[in-house]
Amino acid sequence: MNELIKNRRSIRKFQPDQPVTREQIDRLLEAAMAAPSACNTRPWEFIAVTKREVLDEIVRVHPYAAMCATAAAAIIVVAIPQTEGPLGYFPQDCAAATQNILLEAVSLGLGACWCGVYPQEKHIAAIRPLFNIREPKIPFNVIALGAPAESPPPRGFFEPSKVTYS
Ligand SMILES: Cc1cc2nc3c(=O)[nH]c(=O)nc-3n(C[C@H](O)[C@H](O)[C@H](O)COP(=O)(O)O)c2cc1C
Repeated sequence: MNELIKNRRSIRKFQPDQPVTREQIDRLLEAAMAAPSACNTRPWEFIAVTKREVLDEIVRVHPYAAMCATAAAAIIVVAIPQTEGPLGYFPQDCAAATQNILLEAVSLGLGACWCGVYPQEKHIAAIRPLFNIREPKIPFNVIALGAPAESPPPRGFFEPSKVTYS
């Protein structure tokens, strides 16, 4: 297995006073936008957050994003559901972009954690006003980022019972 895939784990503890640089954020966003998408519609936008007070606001409104209190940055993936063309694929497309960010973070020596927003209406409603995300756009998730202060071991989840060879 590719080492980045093997070593990626959700990181929820970050080193204080270690910034995520603009160059690193741009690398992460390049990786995100290299993801596949249905009919190449790329139904996404990204909000890069490094302001401490905004990260603290995320902690306040999202009960499962407490790690943003020590994260140096976060990326909000914003979905743009299609009104024509390949209807309904935006969750897959945004998830592919998210996974690219998580893997690029490992390659940069950063830790990251995907905090789900879509499709939980209460999380969507909580995150929308922080960034003025108006319909039809939808906050898809919050990805917490920073220098890792924990290093959980690779999991090794391969389960032959989940595979059928035909
Ligand atoms: C759609 C989705 C939503 C998630 N939401 C949260 C979350 O809100 N808070 C959190 O701490 N982790 C969240 N996670 C991370 C999972 O808990 C984590 O990926 C899972 O436990 C496996 O651990 P690993 O990422 O270290 O392999 C989410 C992951 C996914 C894919």
